[in-house]
Amino acid sequence: MYNLLKGKKGIIFGALNEHSIAWKTAERAKEEGAEFVLTNAPASIRMGQLEVLAKKTGSQIIPADATSIEDLENLVEKSVEILGGKIDFVLHSIGMSVNVRKGKPYTDPNYDFTTKGWDVSAVSFHKTMNVLFKKKAMNNWGSIVALTYMAAQRVFPDYNDMADNKAYLESIARSFGYYFGRDFKVRVNTISQSPTPTTAGNGVKGFDGFINFSEKMSPLGNATALECADYTISMFSDLTRKVTLQNLFHDGGFSNMGVSDAVMENFE
Ligand SMILES: NC(=O)c1ccc[n+]([C@@H]2O[C@H](COP(=O)([O-])OP(=O)(O)OC[C@H]3O[C@@H](n4cnc5c(N)ncnc54)[C@H](O)[C@@H]3O)[C@@H](O)[C@H]2O)c1
Repeated sequence: MYNLLKGKKGIIFGALNEHSIAWKTAERAKEEGAEFVLTNAPASIRMGQLEVLAKKTGSQIIPADATSIEDLENLVEKSVEILGGKIDFVLHSIGMSVNVRKGKPYTDPNYDFTTKGWDVSAVSFHKTMNVLFKKKAMNNWGSIVALTYMAAQRVFPDYNDMADNKAYLESIARSFGYYFGRDFKVRVNTISQSPTPTTAGNGVKGFDGFINFSEKMSPLGNATALECADYTISMFSDLTRKVTLQNLFHDGGFSNMGVSDAVMENFE
């Protein structure tokens, strides 16, 4: 490939199985010469598939519930130890809504579920950066990316409270990104990805209709998980050093469309 990440060290959250965006990113990071630690929630690791990725990429796995500061401290300390130096890139690829899982409507959620989903999907990004910041664990000109979805800006009814969680996540990227840029020259961005058939994606009610609609609306078509991995690699590389505090749409053009010929055909 291009050796874009040669000599760089990273932490990759959220590879659950081969469909995961984080899984594809780990494979691409390895191809580009990076070394990294893989992490996920203990329950997700017990499902067993992460071992396959670890073997394939020569990586170690450190379990961490991303809502636990204690787990995150252990993760960051061990990663620096294993990788033999500070961190150059971090991927936050985590999302979960208990209300979606339990079929609660947006207008009448269980608020304990709301709080849990917000903690996992959004505040975990703040907690991760808090630990990295306090421990001064990032190298200068490092890059931190979290994945998000356009429901943070526009209404997609079945995305439920994940829309609010993503809006919060994107705001954290800007707010924390200021301090990370000022003190460590580290950039922080979110990538707003097309609907993608992963475990999390398929958990959204009406996902099939959703992904087909988006495909028809986007002049370039939906972006795949592998294409998202490629874009993320470019954000970890030295070619994007002055991009920070941004929400970057990676969606084949969907976010700027009003309507397309392919969609109009259904109404004529
Ligand atoms: N699939 C899509 O359509 C789509 C579109 C835009 C953005 N995204 C975002 O991409 C990211 C990755 O999702 P994906 O589509 O690859 O699905 P995925 O289901 O493969 O990944 C979600 C990951 O979150 C992890 N996770 C959940 N709770 C956790 C916790 N407490 N601590 C640590 N990890 C935890 C899961 O174990 C899993 O690995 C998410 O932020 C998601 O919202 C997905």
